[in-house]
Amino acid sequence: MRAEADEKFRVTYGRAPELVARAPGRIEFIGNHTDYNGGTVLGAAIDRSLWVALARRTDGQWNFSSAQRPGLVRVAAGDFTRRAGADAWANYPLGVLQAFGVLGLRIPAGFDFLAVSDLPPGAGLSSSAAIELASALVFARAAGEDPPRETLVRAARHAENHNVGEPFGILDKGVSGFGRRDHLVRIDCRGPSYDRVPLPPGVHFWIFNPPAAHALVDGRYAERHRECMAAAQALGVACLADATPAALDALQGRVTDAVARRARHVVEEIARVDACVAALAAGNLAEVGRLLSASHRSSQVLFENSTPELDFLVATLIATPHVYGARLTGGGFGGAVMAMTTAGFDARAADQVAAAAAARFGARPQVLHLETAAGAELL
Ligand code: GLA
Repeated sequence: MRAEADEKFRVTYGRAPELVARAPGRIEFIGNHTDYNGGTVLGAAIDRSLWVALARRTDGQWNFSSAQRPGLVRVAAGDFTRRAGADAWANYPLGVLQAFGVLGLRIPAGFDFLAVSDLPPGAGLSSSAAIELASALVFARAAGEDPPRETLVRAARHAENHNVGEPFGILDKGVSGFGRRDHLVRIDCRGPSYDRVPLPPGVHFWIFNPPAAHALVDGRYAERHRECMAAAQALGVACLADATPAALDALQGRVTDAVARRARHVVEEIARVDACVAALAAGNLAEVGRLLSASHRSSQVLFENSTPELDFLVATLIATPHVYGARLTGGGFGGAVMAMTTAGFDARAADQVAAAAAARFGARPQVLHLETAAGAELL
């Protein structure tokens, strides 16, 4: 893909790029909707990425192009007007530039920009975080800035919140920014602070992505966010990460049943993340798998952000040999299921799971066998 980025850049702009950066997609390993509640979450950067190539210009012009879309988005430097329709993708890098301004970082005076990707969009693997992080790396270097990685992640989050208008947390950008091969990224979202948890050898990741639309932006994510904030307020805590399981009983009768269930999910899910870190340290993969599947059950029953397709995939996977555990990954209401398996779970086994889902729902999920990878980097 690096060669493709160079080549497409040459074809588009008639010269070589000066800078190329890569940022990976991510899977949410465990910690569903814990991030914006001040909790902890574990994620993995994956070996599917987005590359941004850039060369500076001196005429005050910002040109954006994407290998996935025809045409060029031409912007006069400093014009942050939101683009619509086919050009809307450029709002991500534009949002990053705008965030640089807010964070006191210089921005490049002019450039040609090109994005290429092997990350399937709409699979819940955070292609938006990847374009934001890769853009942030090349913009910073082109402007002569060398901010800490935390700042680049903040810029990416600012861009995302500004663009999508959903109250997303730090998970996607933090994992894309801090990923490491054979490791999970643990984020304590209160800081946020980042560290890495080694993965025992022999662990495999599979993604099953049903073709149903990824419906995060229809307001249900924001509704869950509001419910969590309402629960925290009723408990008199700044965020649900501060609530104890015992305190949850006090919610009875003071909030709706649904709000009480959302809170229980978040509090118990944060405990599962910690238990997962301990099980990983002990090399107890069976326990890790059990926690993954318990996380899904909680999303399904308490947080109610699963779908029949995702539930079916999880149930089928859990009943398949060599699968440690499976769960929905990411925001939910669509998106994908992640399974953690041994090497014994192979393409044939994955095919059988996909075929069972196709027989039941009439459409075959996209299947990806993923490896963990390094976080965003200038190449
Ligand atoms: C989406 C958001 C993340 C996180 C997950 C749910 O992926 O972007 O910030 O909230 O949903 O855990």
